[in-house]
Amino acid sequence: MDKAYLQELIKEAERRGGGLVINQNDKPAVVIMTVDKYNQILADKTMPQTQTEDFHSNNNKTILVTGGAGYIGSHTCRELIKAGYSVVVLDNLSTGKKQNIPPEAKFIEGDTADKNLLLKIFTDEHIYAVLHFAASIEVEESVREPQKYLQNNALNTANVLAAMAESKVKNFIFSSTAAVYGDQSLMPIPETARAKPNNPYGYAKFVAEKIIKYHAQFMGLKAVIFRYFNACGCDFDGTIVPTHHSHLIPIVMQAAAGDIQALKVYGNDYNTPDHTCVRDYVHVLDIARAHVVALEKLDGIETFEVFNIGTGTGESVLDVVNAAKEILKKDIPLEFLARRPGDSVITVADNRKISQAWGFKPEFSDLETIIKTTWRQMYHE
Ligand SMILES: NC(=O)c1ccc[n+]([C@@H]2O[C@H](COP(=O)([O-])OP(=O)(O)OC[C@H]3O[C@@H](n4cnc5c(N)ncnc54)[C@H](O)[C@@H]3O)[C@@H](O)[C@H]2O)c1
Repeated sequence: MDKAYLQELIKEAERRGGGLVINQNDKPAVVIMTVDKYNQILADKTMPQTQTEDFHSNNNKTILVTGGAGYIGSHTCRELIKAGYSVVVLDNLSTGKKQNIPPEAKFIEGDTADKNLLLKIFTDEHIYAVLHFAASIEVEESVREPQKYLQNNALNTANVLAAMAESKVKNFIFSSTAAVYGDQSLMPIPETARAKPNNPYGYAKFVAEKIIKYHAQFMGLKAVIFRYFNACGCDFDGTIVPTHHSHLIPIVMQAAAGDIQALKVYGNDYNTPDHTCVRDYVHVLDIARAHVVALEKLDGIETFEVFNIGTGTGESVLDVVNAAKEILKKDIPLEFLARRPGDSVITVADNRKISQAWGFKPEFSDLETIIKTTWRQMYHE
């Protein structure tokens, strides 16, 4: 068995209190457990039932994942299925890839702008919760085409919520972004910081957040708003197909592979230790895991909660480059250019709220795991 996959299974078993059940044809087929749990069972002579019960109780719950063919959505679908949920994916495949959707999920090709389709899905599929990933995500494009971002990221979110309200679906988890914060002087950034988005992408997400809060305060919605920082990395098997190459880590990989001549570094005169921008890189598996935890916690939420998902530590562009050079044992040529308008200097999450509220901490967000999993995804090594 692939070592990384084995490690993943062990981590998963530990995370679930010592054991996990794998289904085949909708029936429990194999139990994987840690030696500690095995010894505990031998000592107790009684089989603890909790994890198995949890696993089965999720089987009655169907989750609608909009954007489930995309990068973060497809990783989350895998985690949901592992946790025993049934999954329906709604995706228009504008950037998402059909092969990213796990075979266990039901796929409906369509658009979040189509309210009649949403109403039909809510009637036919008895949806317990909506995880709303579907969006347009390119900051630079949003500056050129702000109307597209207002429509897809704000108005289509309102459309999903309107269909949910009509169908009495109450549970909602939303993919927001650190881009709602814009430039902040206080680092790391707490959820209470005043939002100051400085591009149409971040602004449209901020508008969507407001609409969600409206539904939560006046229309009975229970919502979790996650503000992800820089999502990166890939599942350990590397089989999820990339949907964008515009983010730093994939471009660093391209430079290391010789697919591009050099990595363009925008600005090396910032007020940071090595004068390049600093970001909070959080592994996509940690983001996916947070959604599974949120589903378990929704019952305890009165209206809505906002949580950052990040590591609480920043890495500069050069930190990422140096780590990739060392881990991949490859040269990474650099080309230094002028600062890019709209880039924040430092963006780092204060992640204490989710840790204190739910005990959630990132597990895979070290640069080594991020770089190795991205490399495997892109170059199959
Ligand atoms: N990638 C990041 O670093 C990051 C950071 C913060 C927040 N987010 C948010 O996370 C979410 C997922 O981002 P991603 O990186 O997986 O992007 P992605 O482009 O890989 O995924 C988006 C998915 O939504 C689908 N989609 C887009 N518009 C749709 C519509 N109108 N109807 C149906 N499907 C539609 C696309 O086909 C794609 O499969 C987005 O909401 C994004 O704003 C991402």
